[in-house]
Amino acid sequence: MSNTAHYDIDDLNEKARRHLWMHFTRLGAYATKEIPIMTRGEGCYLWDAHDKRYLDALSGLFTVQLGHGRHDLAQAAAAQAETLEYFPIWSYGHPPAIELAAKLAELAPGDLNRVFFTTGGSEAVESAWKLARQYFRAKGEGQRYKVISRETAYHGTTLGALAITGIPSLRTPFEPLTPGASHVPNTNRYRHPLGQDEVAFCDWLVEGIEDRILWEGPETVAAVYLEPVQNAGGCFVPPEGYFRRVREVCDKYGVLLVSDEVICAFGRLGEWFGAQRYDYLPDIITCAKGLTSGYSPLGAVICRDHLAEPFLDGTSSFLHGITFGGHPVSCAVGLKNIEIMESEGTLAHVRAHEAGFRERIEGLRDIPIVGDVRGAGYFLALELVADPETEAHFTNEESEEILRGVLSPAFFEAGLICRADDRGDPVVQLSPPLIAGDQQFDEIESILRTTLTDASRHLRRSHSVAGADRREGGKEWS
Ligand SMILES: Cc1ncc(COP(=O)(O)O)c(C=O)c1O
Repeated sequence: MSNTAHYDIDDLNEKARRHLWMHFTRLGAYATKEIPIMTRGEGCYLWDAHDKRYLDALSGLFTVQLGHGRHDLAQAAAAQAETLEYFPIWSYGHPPAIELAAKLAELAPGDLNRVFFTTGGSEAVESAWKLARQYFRAKGEGQRYKVISRETAYHGTTLGALAITGIPSLRTPFEPLTPGASHVPNTNRYRHPLGQDEVAFCDWLVEGIEDRILWEGPETVAAVYLEPVQNAGGCFVPPEGYFRRVREVCDKYGVLLVSDEVICAFGRLGEWFGAQRYDYLPDIITCAKGLTSGYSPLGAVICRDHLAEPFLDGTSSFLHGITFGGHPVSCAVGLKNIEIMESEGTLAHVRAHEAGFRERIEGLRDIPIVGDVRGAGYFLALELVADPETEAHFTNEESEEILRGVLSPAFFEAGLICRADDRGDPVVQLSPPLIAGDQQFDEIESILRTTLTDASRHLRRSHSVAGADRREGGKEWS
């Protein structure tokens, strides 16, 4: 059945232009251009108000692990809403929150047994910081309030989480931010002079974290925040031994290790948690997104037993709460999501198919603007470069032109949802639903081959025009 009859696209556009504040969106870009309006989804695919089909190679926003339009997940939400639609977990429990907390404790590594629910990722990241601060205060180490995270890493947008985020352009408009956060180099091997020598690179990175702790004063540092695979900048994977050694450094100075798994948990890397893929035990895992496959909003801070200890006796409590944190409908969806992943073998599916996904994307390296392919599981990025031989960066103007001017519209036109991102060097990010298989990988590969090849030709033409302009004193491309 066609979708178009149900939607007055002009009317929706007019209302959206007037009233809908789209997140991280240049609203001016839609002053005349039509706003894409997504209306329904099924499996790995979405349809817009014109009934045009898209392959969702980003899982919404790294979220829809089990795919769109599932009756079983929708039904879990409806059944819970009919039974107990809402009650807070402030001094009360309800079965879905209790059962989901117990399930997360079962799936998480080691003694990560205590779960504090939030409604999303930024709140989880910020709640973990508040927890670390109150925890150290309760232990008589109230001067430990600082956190260390990595350059270019995205950890959320609320003022505390934004302080942990290492992307200057997102931070600057809101300064001064929550004090106490500083940043160390990330695991971008491709762009680092030591990148070819994994051992030396790892030494340098871990020493960087230790040096930062020493510089800040170890007695003032509460936590180090790291993603198992860093999203912003384009799927930076850790070098061999990195997390084991960071763990040792944190233990040496009594600093907590927070694994921010808002993207990397719930099968994205083929394990329940990214820490399991890289074999380390964090003190805290922050998660959200894929916890419910996006069918209802939910986040969580999962803590090791020792973090809860100061709050277990007498009059003490963690002085923090969120009205909708641990919402019964979201928790019921989270439980169902995990139950389906277990019964359908989703993690095993990712592990069995990730090599095929990788192989297809690696195959695009022959396109002249593809410099690097990296990532793990169903979480890959291609870095775009002006010249793969020299690994030359694009200029800011070229990056803007290729990502926003050429590739984003071309992907959209071709019916592929992925992300052209320039928070670091320009990358194309891919994070398909975990139910995706060979058919979707072939489609992704084929659309990327056409669009990236066209973009590369477009740039070459621009370069030759720029060369002509340059001779005439016109615009310089590089
Ligand atoms: C690693 C990481 N942390 C935190 C966040 C913030 O999550 P949210 O957008 O749910 O607040 C994100 C969002 O993409 C993320 O990727």
